[in-house]
Amino acid sequence: MTKVIARKVTTHVLQEMKLKGEKISMLTAYDFSMARLVEAAGIDVILVGDSASNVMAGHNSTLPITLDQMIYHGCSVVRAVSRAFVLVDMPFGTYQGNSKEALSSAIRIMKETGADAVKLEGGKEIIESIDRILSAGIPVMGHLGLTPQSIHKFGTYVVRATEDSEAKKLVEDAHLLEQAGCFALVLEKIPAMLGGQVAKALKIPVIGIGAGRYVDGQVLVLHDMLGITQEFSPRFLRRYHNLSEEIQGSVRTYIKDIKSMEFPNEREQY
Ligand code: KIV
Repeated sequence: MTKVIARKVTTHVLQEMKLKGEKISMLTAYDFSMARLVEAAGIDVILVGDSASNVMAGHNSTLPITLDQMIYHGCSVVRAVSRAFVLVDMPFGTYQGNSKEALSSAIRIMKETGADAVKLEGGKEIIESIDRILSAGIPVMGHLGLTPQSIHKFGTYVVRATEDSEAKKLVEDAHLLEQAGCFALVLEKIPAMLGGQVAKALKIPVIGIGAGRYVDGQVLVLHDMLGITQEFSPRFLRRYHNLSEEIQGSVRTYIKDIKSMEFPNEREQY
């Protein structure tokens, strides 16, 4: 019997999905074991997000995570994946300073992790960096709306682009990123109508997180949607599981079994 090998997701496949109106599924993953589960379930895109800074390292923002740490997470994920498209977030401070540094950071990510693309936050302000990375043949996903690396500029995680001027800038930035050659765009925490307007206006896929239902796909942070993290509950987050309760329940039972000498039993020893 011949084994059916699922077609690898590429930028081209994602573009085709947009054209066909097929929604794109995307989740974060930061380690081999979780990436393997997410891949096996059939996800289209895996983002090695800099949300690893919060979720994996316990920081209260995405700012502290380093390029080396993102590369470590990227390598672990890539080892688990053969079909999904894998992209790695460029961490804060590795692309905003100058485009040369941006290119060398992106090259390190691509060479050392084997990922398919990188993601950067921002529009016009970082267009030189995006141009330079793209000119090296590295696919770039943009990220507009709520951009967590700029949290200290905004001071809050509230919905973005509710004012006309900010919405106008977001639309302009989205067009600029498409014209530059980005293969896709993430829109985070903006009004649904604006998300839909951008998705309709652009030819490239637009993936939303809190950007409503009229975009071309959705992304969530894996640990949030599985209910491993509990302290974060924005309206856009649908929890598909309550894993924190299940994990804690299992650990409590394990502790109880050890104390009562129920574990290990006769069959569980040599
Ligand atoms: O780092 C991340 O998890 C992200 C998503 C919120 C899109 O950038």
